[in-house]
Order: sequence, then structure tokens, then C-alpha cells
Amino acid sequence: MPRNPETVKTLVTGGAGFIGARCAALALESGHEVTVLDDLSTGLRSRFDALEAAGARVVLGDVRDANARASALEGVDAVIHLAAQGSVPRSMEDPEATMDVNVHATDRLLEDMEERGLYRLVLASSAAVYGDVDGLPHTEDLVGARQSPYADSKWANEQAVLRRRQQGWEAIALRFFNVYGPGQRSEGPNTGVIPIFVKKMCAKEAPTLFGGGSQTRDFVHVDDVARLLVRLASDAWSHPPRAVYNVGTGKQTSLLELVQTLAAALRARGLKGDHLIPLMGPARSGDLDHSMADLAAITADLGWRPTVSLDDGLGELIDARLGHGV
Ligand code: NAD
Ligand code: UD1
Repeated sequence: MPRNPETVKTLVTGGAGFIGARCAALALESGHEVTVLDDLSTGLRSRFDALEAAGARVVLGDVRDANARASALEGVDAVIHLAAQGSVPRSMEDPEATMDVNVHATDRLLEDMEERGLYRLVLASSAAVYGDVDGLPHTEDLVGARQSPYADSKWANEQAVLRRRQQGWEAIALRFFNVYGPGQRSEGPNTGVIPIFVKKMCAKEAPTLFGGGSQTRDFVHVDDVARLLVRLASDAWSHPPRAVYNVGTGKQTSLLELVQTLAAALRARGLKGDHLIPLMGPARSGDLDHSMADLAAITADLGWRPTVSLDDGLGELIDARLGHGV
């Protein structure tokens, strides 16, 4: 049934997180009534406060807690489920805790939705499910051996989405590749290589490349991701044929290229020095070699394409960090 964005009441779990806060802010701007649920385990109170000031209803609570879920789901008609233990290394250290949050709590959330007759779900999966698959770019039907409990947990989420679709739900899982952009933390368990490198290089510290720097990633801007999430929560569905879609740019960038691009952008802004040359560190265990999304399915079925180039996205982060304004 066509939905009017102005009447959509959207719950964003993990709404105080990097992607969730951007998504919740965009949903508010697009006219949704927004609730965010977050336990602030990696999310920030400041994001919660900003969203509340912008008109969101905020629920401070754990998605594992039935009362928190009940409160968050009140009056909602679409769920964007982003709350998760999102760190691969942490999932290796404590697989049970990762399964508890990412799989069991998600299953409970879906049961609660069913009880309330709520069948619209947009769920964050991850390119981590590809594991050590051969062949680039990664098409949705090609998956290899998963390398972490985190990847297993996202795979289990995708299976739950598949089951719900068989029951007639409007449910979809999105395999995010490496999301970056404003608001991503440069410290803590859920940081990423881009905020770490931008922070270091702007502070005249050399970045360290783990394992040589020839590994590649598909870096996708958070605004492109948020736009897709909000649209899927509110638009009429022609029932996309797939349960799972890649969300990346279809381009791979080696870490060495990433450093070179950052260095060139910093030189163009008058920063020079040895810190623009990376240090070399040992490879990180469990690291994937190459990662690049095939976008044929999402482009054909959903008409989605990324719009922010890596050069522009990195330039924006550097300008914000150096106080040049953006
Ligand atoms: P994030 O850590 O910034 O956001 C996750 C949010 O969920 C945080 O605010 C955290 O406090 C909250 N949360 C965690 N456990 C919770 C719980 N038990 N109850 C309530 N809230 C809880 O991470 P992000 O980068 O914004 O990731 C969002 C989603 O996207 C996650 O599901 C992650 O696995 C997925 N993802 C992210 C990337 C990426 O590149 N950032 C890539 C692939 C998938
Ligand atoms: C990322 C996501 C993960 C997601 C997965 C999808 C983050 C934080 N993690 O993992 O949630 O499921 O993609 O594929 O976004 N590196 C360095 N030096 C540093 C830091 C990192 O060389 O100081 C390297 C890492 O070894 C790795 C690459 O940069 O090879 C990317 O690392 P990272 O940003 O942590 O993301 P992924 O491990 O790809």
C-alpha cells in the first residue's frame, strides 16, 4: 500500500549510533514521526539529545529487554533495525554476547512486531557475510566461509528476514559495505579506518597500514545509506524480488590509495610533512583481502545508486577536522 512519508511512524533501533543518528535525522527531515531506541553502548548521548531536540521520541534501553522493545514499538509502523554489536574483534572475544544482541534480540524484536501486526522491516546486514568468497565484485548470491561470529550473526539475521518474507512481510536486509562519513567515531570498538586516518593525518601523525595496504574496501557514504534506509521505511513496495541487497559503491579502493588520496587532499590544503607517508604494521587477524559490491541488483530493483564520491566525502571530513567548514 502506498505510504505517505508524513504519516510514517518509524522506529530506528541503534538511533544514537553512527548510521542510526544520520538515518533518524533524515527521517525526521522527511516528515516521519521518529522513535529511536538505543542503550548507548557505543552510541552517543549527544546524538540522542540532538534527535530529541529535533522532535524524535527517544527510548533509552536495551533491545534485549522486552519492556524497552514494547515502549519503542508503541505506535510504530516501520522498523529500521540497526542496533547491534558491530565490532568484528569484539565478536571474536565474546561470541555469545554478539549472538545475544544481534541474533536473539533481533528474533524477539521480530516476534514483538508480529504481535503488533507490524510487517515492515529494514535490517542492517553486512558485507562481512561474504567472508573469504572468491571473485569480485561480490554478487548477492555468492558467499564464502564466514570469518567471525559477527558475520554469522548477520547471516542469521538475513535468514530471519527470508523467513518473514515467506510469511508476507515487507522485510529486507541490506549488506552494508564500509560506511563512512560525518559523525563516525575515530575511537572505540566501532570505529573505521577512515576516521582513524583522517584524525591522525590532520593532527600530523602518520597512519599505520595493517598488512601492507594492498587490501581493498568499498567505502560508501553514510548519507547515501541513510537515504536508502528512510526510503525503504516509507515508500510503497513493489516487493523487491530479493531479500538481500548490497549497499556499496561498486568501487574498490586499496588502503594505500586511501592514504594517497588523503595526503593529496591535505597537501592541497597546505599541510605537508612526513606524516603523510604511512607506517607499516602487521596484518590484523581475520581481515578480508578484497571487498567490492556488485550493485546490479539494487540498481535494477530499487533504482538506488550512491551519489557521494570518495574524494568529496574525504574532503568534507578533512575540512570539518581542520575547521575549514563545509
Ligand atoms: P554504531 O555502533 O555506531 O551503532 C550501533 C548502535 O546500536 C549504537 O548506538 C549502540 O549504542 C546501539 N546498540 C548496540 N547494542 C544495543 C542494544 N543491545 N540495545 C540497544 N541499542 C544497542 O554502528 P554503526 O556503524 O552505526 O552500525 C549500525 C548497523 O550497521 C549495525 O547493525 C552494524 O552491524 C551495521 N553495519 C555497519 C557497517 C559500517 O561500516 N559502519 C558496515 C556493515 C554493517
Ligand atoms: C567494516 C565494518 C564492519 C562491517 C564490514 C563489512 C567498520 C568499523 N567495520 O570492517 O562493521 O561489517 O566492514 O565488510 O566500519 N586498517 C588499517 N589501519 C588502521 C585501521 C584499519 O590499516 O589504523 C585496515 C584494516 O586492517 C582493514 C581496513 O583498514 O584492512 C578496514 O578496516 P575497518 O575500517 O576496521 O573495517 P572492516 O574491517 O573492513
